[in-house]
Amino acid sequence: MTKFRTIWTTEDAYVEVIDQRKLPHEFVTVRLETYDDAEEAIKEMTVRGAPLIGATAAYGIYLAVREMIEDELDGSFLDEAFTALRASRPTAVNLFWALDKMRVALDNCEGDFMKTAWEAAAQIVEEDVETCRMIGVHGLPLIEAIAARKEGEVVNILTHCNAGMLGCVEWGTITSPIYQAIQKGIKVHVWVDETRPRNQGSNLTAYELTRHGVPHTLIVDNAGGHLMQHGMVDMVIVGTDRTTRQGDVANKIGTYLKALAAHDNNIPFYVALPSTTLDMSIRNGLTEIPIEERNQDEVRYMIGKGQNGKIQPVLICPETTPASNYGFDVTPARLVTKIITERGVCDASEEGLLELFPEFNSPKTN
Ligand code: MRU
Repeated sequence: MTKFRTIWTTEDAYVEVIDQRKLPHEFVTVRLETYDDAEEAIKEMTVRGAPLIGATAAYGIYLAVREMIEDELDGSFLDEAFTALRASRPTAVNLFWALDKMRVALDNCEGDFMKTAWEAAAQIVEEDVETCRMIGVHGLPLIEAIAARKEGEVVNILTHCNAGMLGCVEWGTITSPIYQAIQKGIKVHVWVDETRPRNQGSNLTAYELTRHGVPHTLIVDNAGGHLMQHGMVDMVIVGTDRTTRQGDVANKIGTYLKALAAHDNNIPFYVALPSTTLDMSIRNGLTEIPIEERNQDEVRYMIGKGQNGKIQPVLICPETTPASNYGFDVTPARLVTKIITERGVCDASEEGLLELFPEFNSPKTN
């Protein structure tokens, strides 16, 4: 696997990320020097994907601590930073998890605040790398089993949105088992949903798979059901932004429809997640997970590289047509075949999750 990360620190101890809005056409990095920069990067989707949102928010707090100390501001500045970052995106629970971790680290700090924040953010990043690697270790046997059943024929995997390394720090969640399968010589082919409106599939997943030499084919979002009916999909793997105690899964809008089609065609539907994406404080995903609604222009316009070589928006409806833009939907646990985590594979149920994560035994703990 080509080693690159989605977030890193600079020699002068600031933070840099990839501007994912420019991919796949341009590889541009953005320097984050203030917590405002981190907040904007999350809001504007310069960075996106649940684990990476969490990691960026954690470094956002480090930057806030640095600003507070260097500009001799009082603690209310840091409180403002926490509030602003918490409000940057609503659905991915990793954001709140990471901010809570930073709060605890700072509350317990008796010495150097800046060093504590730096180390706590770095730890979140390093843990994500190892967690995603382990998701691959546990997800690999699922791919191997299909490859064995197909006597070495290509395993066709369908995915929606981008739950690859661009949504995380390294490895990615759904891509980790795929990369590890490729490393073992298993033949894999990925159907990539384009994932309207922001096209994380065509822009990001296709980019990553290209970089890693993974055979893949881009499809329109509505093609998956047809492919499944015709035996062209062996498994579906998606990521998640928040998974509840009973195993309901919020992910990019359109995921639910893929789960329904997979169920109707007896195709396993797997969700790969780091435990940082579990929200064990809620049960019913349909009623309790806040679903982000984004600007309608993301639907009304498509952004791409024009024949003039410039990245530009193109209006795809009448000027006055309104649009709605729900960012996520919830797939009920009953449609999820198994959840793949860093500790192993389990049923999408409270019992299944608690078997792997007994520390969540008290209903209120998150
Ligand atoms: O709106 P996005 O691009 O942040 O949505 C991302 C997803 O839905 C991913 O599937 C999810 O965050 C998992 S990333 C490992």
